[in-house]
Amino acid sequence: METVKKYNFTYEDIHSTIKDASENITETGYQPDYLLAIGGGGLIPARIMRTFITRPILTIALSRYSDEIGTAPADTPIKLQWLEGEVNLDGKKVLVVDEVDDQRTTLDFTLNELIEHYPNTEFSAFVVHNKLKEKKGHLPKKLKHFFVGKDINDYWINYAWDAEDISTFGQ
Ligand code: G4P
Ligand code: MG
Repeated sequence: METVKKYNFTYEDIHSTIKDASENITETGYQPDYLLAIGGGGLIPARIMRTFITRPILTIALSRYSDEIGTAPADTPIKLQWLEGEVNLDGKKVLVVDEVDDQRTTLDFTLNELIEHYPNTEFSAFVVHNKLKEKKGHLPKKLKHFFVGKDINDYWINYAWDAEDISTFGQ
């Protein structure tokens, strides 16, 4: 039987990857004003990153599913929560954080929306894992930097935070 190729990334793996990436990012001289987590997958990575790049975290949330039960995933993600309120991003640098760049659908949609709505803001992106594959989506030309923790093969990733039993995760 052919074994399904997959990765199991523990909290320690993820923390180390983000620490190393944060140091590399800082060494380039790039200093964001805000981290912007794309929920749900970007939430824990953004919080880990804040340990090394100490900037406030903003969050947005997207869904591939509408409220109607039984519907197929939408091609374009749906905004569940977006930036609002007091924050003024004019002239600011924002580092958008997600856990994985798979088909690039999420980054394409999110970054283009952000760039359109905040024309006076500089956006960059960081993903913990980038799957090396042909992407469906594209990164906008106006994206300043695209930082990757690890380039990986196109295998399924089990993230520690999805474990129902963390004591046996990855065994
Ligand atoms: P994209 O993330 O690059 O847009 O790719 P795609 O549209 O194919 O991803 C659909 C969802 O599947 C995303 O979750 C993405 O994070 C998740 N995903 C893709 N590859 C993997 C993988 O190898 N392992 C795991 N665990 N998830 C993967 P989402 O709709 O953004 O949901 P959420 O978890 O962020 O709430
Ligand atoms: Mg996600």
